[in-house]
Amino acid sequence: MIPLSLAEVAQVTDALLAEVPDPAALITGPVVIDSREAGQGSLFAALPGTRTDGHEFAAAAVRAGAVAALATRPTGGPALIVPDVPAALGRLARAVVDRLPGLTVIGITGSAGKTTTKDLTAQLLETVAPTVAARDSFNNEIGHPLTVLRVTGRTRYLVSELAARGPGHITQLCQIAPPRLGAVLCVGHAHAGEFGGLEAIALAKGELPAALPPDGVAVLNADDHRVAAMAARTRARVVTFGRSAAAQVRADEVRSDEAGRAGFILVTPAGSAPVQLQLYGEHHVHNALAAAALVLQLDMPVADVAAGLCAAVARSRWRMEVTQLPDGVTVVNDAYNANPDSVRAAIAALAAMAHGRRGFAVLGHMTELGDDADRLHEQIGAQAAEAGLAGLIVVGEQAAPMLAGAKGVPGWRGELHHVPDAPAAVRTLQERLRDGDVVLVKASHSIHLERVALALTGEQPIDGAAGRGS
Ligand SMILES: Nc1ncnc2c1ncn2[C@@H]1O[C@H](COP(=O)(O)OP(=O)(O)OP(=O)(O)O)[C@@H](O)[C@H]1O
Ligand SMILES: [Mg+2]
Repeated sequence: MIPLSLAEVAQVTDALLAEVPDPAALITGPVVIDSREAGQGSLFAALPGTRTDGHEFAAAAVRAGAVAALATRPTGGPALIVPDVPAALGRLARAVVDRLPGLTVIGITGSAGKTTTKDLTAQLLETVAPTVAARDSFNNEIGHPLTVLRVTGRTRYLVSELAARGPGHITQLCQIAPPRLGAVLCVGHAHAGEFGGLEAIALAKGELPAALPPDGVAVLNADDHRVAAMAARTRARVVTFGRSAAAQVRADEVRSDEAGRAGFILVTPAGSAPVQLQLYGEHHVHNALAAAALVLQLDMPVADVAAGLCAAVARSRWRMEVTQLPDGVTVVNDAYNANPDSVRAAIAALAAMAHGRRGFAVLGHMTELGDDADRLHEQIGAQAAEAGLAGLIVVGEQAAPMLAGAKGVPGWRGELHHVPDAPAAVRTLQERLRDGDVVLVKASHSIHLERVALALTGEQPIDGAAGRGS
């Protein structure tokens, strides 16, 4: 963070100072919500938790060096009292951004691929200038300001991930750190139930291009008609990316290597260059193109963009995370989250990675799909069978419609299993896996199917089932 006195922080957040001996004391950061991360110069933001209340940890944070707590009630130590802590974080973040005219803010949104694209963009920009990027999926009204508050006077680029769970959310996030460049990746089924359909999701994602200034750049997916149509909602210059010939930044000659990683020719108005991604699955081509389109606007030469994409790795865990076990089994842990679009992409990637070998998919419930949930699960089952997988292991009652989908595909010879939970999935796999097999694990975050992958790799035992990698 840029150093600000408690008095200055109180002024921008409209806070009352409580038990503050010296209002001139400087907050230098980090701003934390976990008292264990507090250190000298920190500000501890007390948030209500599901299990425990952050206010109870304010004293521990101060003992660890925090200058004060940002809280909704007195904490028994130095505190800035506000009615709404996330809102105060947002105002503080905005005050910091306003003090840094040399900072370029980049916003990334879309139904799938935000974290991946954010991580790719950050890896490209870090080679040029000091860059701050969101940790993991820090993309909401708490994570976003926390990310913004990590910038310092030296930071040139802020790469932020912007999520929406309803209309108006992205507009609010854009007010916290007004982006000059914004990318919209796709409009898909993630959270479709909450929104009430794809058109409503498109309206919400379109708040990012709508928030961009006239001297900004809207980077839009030419292959997604709902995203392409957002060109009408922005005052910024539009740059399109995609695989279609009309896209300004596009991928030609896309092909997957033996391991299922995509390579392509990056074609841009400034020239072309070959790219071989380290990420697994062809769906990452769009994420790479979006990252390329963003950094090209920041004057990075095409050759450097291509070299950076070739070198970039998956930074955030459990997204197509591939582990090669000593016994020849390949585990693909894509259990960070799931919606019909990302499961379809993962099944395609599994088929490409298996090619000739046996591919198994362990799939669980996709949450938040609303009335369409059964039909969408059934379609995924059918897709797994159509991809010619050797086995589909459906985990849990709510994912059961996948079974009917798979059974309905004529001529599919794969094994179909329905198991109640993650330990049962591990046992089913243990009985079957052999040298050369590839296993994909995927479900919505709340199902915690990563336990299956972690058990297989030996990273974390699961109810007594032995790992294969240990
Ligand atoms: N363009 C895409 N199409 C389909 N699936 C994708 C695409 N990009 C990424 N995915 C898949 O979606 C999942 C989530 O990826 P990622 O974490 O990058 O997305 P996100 O938008 O940040 O998700 P969240 O909303 O949970 O933060 C992963 O399984 C990833 O492989
Ligand atoms: Mg994310």
